[in-house]
Amino acid sequence: MVEIAPSILSADFTRLGEEIAAVERGGATLVHCDVMDGHFVPNLTIGLPVIKSLKRATRLPLDAHLMISEPGRYAEQFVEAGAGMVSVHVEADPHLNRTLVAIRGKGALSGIAINPATPLVALEEALPYADFVLLMSVNPGFGGQKFVPTSLDKVRRLRRMIDERGLKTRIEIDGGIDRTNVAEVVAAGAEIIVAGTAVFGGGDPTAGVRELREAAMQWV
Ligand code: DX5
Ligand code: ZN
Repeated sequence: MVEIAPSILSADFTRLGEEIAAVERGGATLVHCDVMDGHFVPNLTIGLPVIKSLKRATRLPLDAHLMISEPGRYAEQFVEAGAGMVSVHVEADPHLNRTLVAIRGKGALSGIAINPATPLVALEEALPYADFVLLMSVNPGFGGQKFVPTSLDKVRRLRRMIDERGLKTRIEIDGGIDRTNVAEVVAAGAEIIVAGTAVFGGGDPTAGVRELREAAMQWV
């Protein structure tokens, strides 16, 4: 099943609740929350208080993408705040297995996020501990960047790595996804599609999600 996860990074922060209601009407099944610390990535965004508020504002699962240094110090707090999915960057965590186990232990889905320049072999050993892999198709830090074209083959290779091991790990793709490339990434093996600009950039987030979903289905 292909799921659309709108990234609230591109939403109007003065009306977050309404923006989320709008994407829900369009068929979004997750809400992607980009947490940045100004250290692991060159930008600052939202943290625990916003996740807590959003938890009260929507029934959709919150997907917390931690672009922070030392994610092991905070991952469990994000689950306690209301995140149903938490991903940590392989580049940021020398004790990845421990963090993934801790996320699962708190009752959320555990995810490994990986940057475009990081080879897949870096996450191979931790794969059995992850419910999903968040494959970055831009360098994290900002919305509205261009899709890194080598990501398409990386999705295919990750799909193969997961299937060869008989794992159920899902692939989430994040960055530069729009109507023109979504079918290709789905065909390559991605199942969860993060989109910020493509959903919120056109002024009608309900239509944004709907159009992206329709375009995603065109790969069959
Ligand atoms: C980038 C974030 C993305 C971002 C995607 O660091 O992880 O989730 O919001 O935005 P678009 O879809 O505009 O590339
Ligand atoms: Zn993200």
